[in-house]
Amino acid sequence: MRCSIVLATRNKAEYLKRTLRSIKRQDVPFEYEVIVVDDGSTDQTREVCKRAGVRYIKLENAIYRNPAAARNVGYRVATGKIIIAQSDEVIHHTPNTIELLCSRLKQGEFLLATVYNYIVKTQQRKAMYTGKRNKRPFFFLGSLWRKDLYAVGGNDEEFTKPGYDDDWFADCLIRGLGLRPRFTDAVVGHHQDHPRPQGLSHKVLPSKRLWEQKRKAGVFVATGGPWKLNETVAEWWERCHSIDYKRYLTGSLAEQVWEFLSIRHLIRKDVVALEVGVGLGYCTKTTAEQGVRLSALDISKIGLKRVEEWVVACYQQPDSLPNNTFDLVFSHLVSQHMSDEALIAQLREVLRALKPSGVFAMQFADTEKDFSEEENQSKANQKSGGIRRSLQRVRELVEAVGGRIARECDARLLKHGVVWRAVHIVQDGARTTI
Ligand SMILES: C[S@@+](CC[C@H](N)C(=O)[O-])C[C@H]1O[C@@H](n2cnc3c(N)ncnc32)[C@H](O)[C@@H]1O
Repeated sequence: MRCSIVLATRNKAEYLKRTLRSIKRQDVPFEYEVIVVDDGSTDQTREVCKRAGVRYIKLENAIYRNPAAARNVGYRVATGKIIIAQSDEVIHHTPNTIELLCSRLKQGEFLLATVYNYIVKTQQRKAMYTGKRNKRPFFFLGSLWRKDLYAVGGNDEEFTKPGYDDDWFADCLIRGLGLRPRFTDAVVGHHQDHPRPQGLSHKVLPSKRLWEQKRKAGVFVATGGPWKLNETVAEWWERCHSIDYKRYLTGSLAEQVWEFLSIRHLIRKDVVALEVGVGLGYCTKTTAEQGVRLSALDISKIGLKRVEEWVVACYQQPDSLPNNTFDLVFSHLVSQHMSDEALIAQLREVLRALKPSGVFAMQFADTEKDFSEEENQSKANQKSGGIRRSLQRVRELVEAVGGRIARECDARLLKHGVVWRAVHIVQDGARTTI
């Protein structure tokens, strides 16, 4: 991914609508994504984002707080090499804003658009908020390399009250990393004018004090930073769980999972089962409530913590599973996040952990399109669930570790030619076909 546009918002649906519209109007000759982090809105923000087709992350947050924390959530799920960081109320006025903010960004600097305060009703520009004639190094609208953003640990979440998070962010980039802010008038943004909250100059005082303390201490990196740029897939899952990132934790309901995996008849009292990949835990809870003696295997500690009250045992590594224990193991929306190497290891250990009569019901993602199975194994695909496998490939992997496919369940064709399949895997030589 070349570029990620990230913005945080709260109860500004009308402003956001215009901002997203201006982004959509852009002609962008490369791949990019837009991530909106909603820090607890109660207005139409969700609908606005859904209609605009952006990645929408909702944080449950009842009271106002400094946007640093919400922005960081967006920055940490962004996959672009370049981040366009901006305020939710800044309209992209220049038609090729995204392209210019990417193509003109050089190493060793960050790039800031010229941004005016703007009266939407009268279409009038007012004060210049930042630009060559008012060099304030703040991200009303600008771009920076993701590696630089991560090197300073994003925005500093110690700023919880309004203001001064942007001053400190600029300090970290300039004084901490030695970057040069570059102001360009080739890109113009319009900050939609809005009423100032009352008593703002008083409300920013705690943040001002914090900023002064931080400057004095002279450690120019955000609290909690720096962030690892190339985090492992396991670290990435840990983070998804830590922020309840629903897009990837999916949260399928038990009925859907049992149905798709054709295991409904096995969900009954005293069956000893293992769920692989608990996500939000909805299926785990309902399955355990049926009297199933359920355990969980998940790559994430936080994911396992979420379900510990419903399960008999938790396992983070497949090689710690007990021998010859389970009647049923099931996995839904997990293998498409796993490399062949990880899947082979899991299959081997799960087959060992099954009773001889046991079955491993596993969903995987195939595609109608042509693709190279090897190239498909990238880390980005592991994170996004983009790993596709043909039935033949899954059969090869299963047989390589002494298993056999005993049943192929009904497949489901999704949008974009993705096909979800499920198979029942048994130990080779096992006579059971369930
Ligand atoms: C997309 S969610 C699916 C959750 C649930 N099964 C569902 O269908 O909604 C993937 C889950 O699998 C876990 N996971 C990812 N890779 C895994 C692996 N290699 N081993 C075990 N769990 C894994 C993640 O932590 C997450 O909980």
